[in-house]
Formats: sequence, C-alpha cells, structure tokens
Amino acid sequence: MSAPAEKARAHAPAKVILAGEHAVVHGHPAVALPFPAIMAAGEARPASSGVTIRSDRYPDLAARLNLDGTEYAPTARPLQPVAEAVRGALEALTRLGGDLKPFELVLSSGIPAGAGLGSSAAIAVAAIRATFSFHGRTVPPSLLRMLATKAEAIAHGTSSGLDPTTVAAEGPIRFVRDHAPIDLEVQEPFGLVVADSGQSSGTGRMVAQVKAGIEADPARREALNTLGEVADLVAELLECGDIPALGRELSRAHDLLARLGVSTPRLDAMVRAACEAGAFGAKLSGAGGGGCAIALAPISQLGEVAQAMIEAGAVTAWPTQYLIERDAPR
Ligand code: PMV
Repeated sequence: MSAPAEKARAHAPAKVILAGEHAVVHGHPAVALPFPAIMAAGEARPASSGVTIRSDRYPDLAARLNLDGTEYAPTARPLQPVAEAVRGALEALTRLGGDLKPFELVLSSGIPAGAGLGSSAAIAVAAIRATFSFHGRTVPPSLLRMLATKAEAIAHGTSSGLDPTTVAAEGPIRFVRDHAPIDLEVQEPFGLVVADSGQSSGTGRMVAQVKAGIEADPARREALNTLGEVADLVAELLECGDIPALGRELSRAHDLLARLGVSTPRLDAMVRAACEAGAFGAKLSGAGGGGCAIALAPISQLGEVAQAMIEAGAVTAWPTQYLIERDAPR
C-alpha cells in the first residue's frame, strides 16, 4: 500500500434522472446523469483513535466507529447510512491488506435533501472515496457502487440502486436494476436546467404509492411500461445528440409520470413554463411528489428557461451546459 495522505478530500455529484424513474424499480431501464454543478464532499483528517464521522447537515451529531468498522457507540439514525458506507469501506480496505489509520471524516453537501437529486447517495460516495483516498487507495467502481447501494438501502429502504450508481458514475448511464450500468457517450454539450420546487418529498413513500397504483389500475401499469420504453429511446437520442427529439421524449415521460400520480401542481407549472420559454422538453426528475424538474433547452435559451421555472415556483435553478469529462479527478 502506498503512504497514506495526511488529509484526503473527495467529492461526489448530485444526479438527475432523464427517464425511467419508478419504472426502474419494477425492472425497466432508466437513464440518469451525474450533475456536478452541485456536489457533496468528504474530508478525512488524521485523528488519534478510531473513526469519527461528522456532517454539516447534523452539526450536533457524530458517529464513532472502531477501525475494524464496528460501532464504538450506537450511531444516531440520521448518520446510519454514512456510517454503513464507511464501515463497508473499512472492511474492504482490511481485505485489501495494509494498516488502517484513525481519522475524522467531515462531510459537507451543497445538494438539497429530499429534492430527488441523490443527496444521501452523493454523501455516501464522497465518504467512501475519502476513506479510500486517506489510505492511499482509489476505490474500484464496482465496489464503490456496491458499498453506496448498501448505505442507500439504509437511507431509503428498498431502492433500485439507481441513485448510488449514478453519483458513482463518470457520466450518463443506462441502468437496469441488479445489472452493471452501461456508460452513454455524449459528444457535444447540451443545455440542461435543473430546478428545485422547494417541496421536499420522500422516495420510499412515492415508490410505495406507485406500486399500489399499478396494482390497482391497469392504465397506470401501462404508463409504467411505456416509461421503460421511453427510457430506451432517451438513451439512443442522447448518444445521437438529437437534443430536440430528446426533449420531446422528456415531456412525454412527464405526462406518463403525471398519470402515475407523482407530479404536483408546482412541478406541472415549472414544466409548462420551461416549454413556453423555449425548452425542447421538460419533466419532473426523481420520485416526484415534490423535488426537482429538469428541462432540455438550446444553450442560448438557458437563462430564459431557468428564469421561467423560477417564476413558476422553483426556489433555485441551475442552468448548465452539460458535458462531463470522464477520467476527471474525483
Ligand atoms: O430518490 P429520487 O427522488 O431520486 O428517486 C429515485 C428514483 C426512483 O425510481 C423513484 C426510486 C428508485 O429506487 O429507483
């Protein structure tokens, strides 16, 4: 093992779902992107004993682990997912051989929680990366996905694994539950606005609501199946760089999600406003019931589309020219 860093910092981005949320829970494909305009970060600093984990989200709490990953003291509920992420990282590092060093891990995040942006998954990925980096190692991608997915199961209960897989990815992915993600190549930057409705939502509750809906109503089951088909089209159009056609599919996905009952009047208004302001298409992104809407827009119209979404009720909007360099340091 190489010499451990004095201090190690690592990051993980937010994520957005272009298509296939909810459908992915039931075995259909989804397409999602890491969204590095907003990030979570972890900094591991040398300490005198064990592992202490702190998060700017819960300033009054700390989780304490022994170096073998066992709990030194019971972990408060809000820190359990990240403690699980670090525990898994410590166990993996032990299996890889070499000495573990005591450290304090300080986590911070600019990603709003409960907004469908993968906040808890990004914090877990930043924590795992920082733990590895502090010990002079880079975490292999499949191990990172596995550890973050376990942590996410504690944060959200049953989930498809889409969030941790996307925030751990180096670029857009096509994802099917229980399979390794497929990287999608994007050649040219495209205009993407992510806007937060400011209404927070719970993924577990929305997933349960959709499940009950499709069991009771064949039309909802049909909408869910079509969402999976849209996701496959979206993957193709993204790689072809046909952003106007991609936008139209996004709007179609929004209508299908609304039929599943997961949109809200504010998300509908943000989507409508984005399209009226020149977006190629727009949809809610994530579990719905609140959270974010996204819009694909000509790069020249990004400002107008973001402004229109704010005027329709969004509390924050991130207009971006989206292009990710794979192999960038994390
Ligand atoms: O946590 P969110 O809001 O990004 O939703 C995740 C996407 C779902 O398909 C609704 C749930 C899942 O586990 O895939």
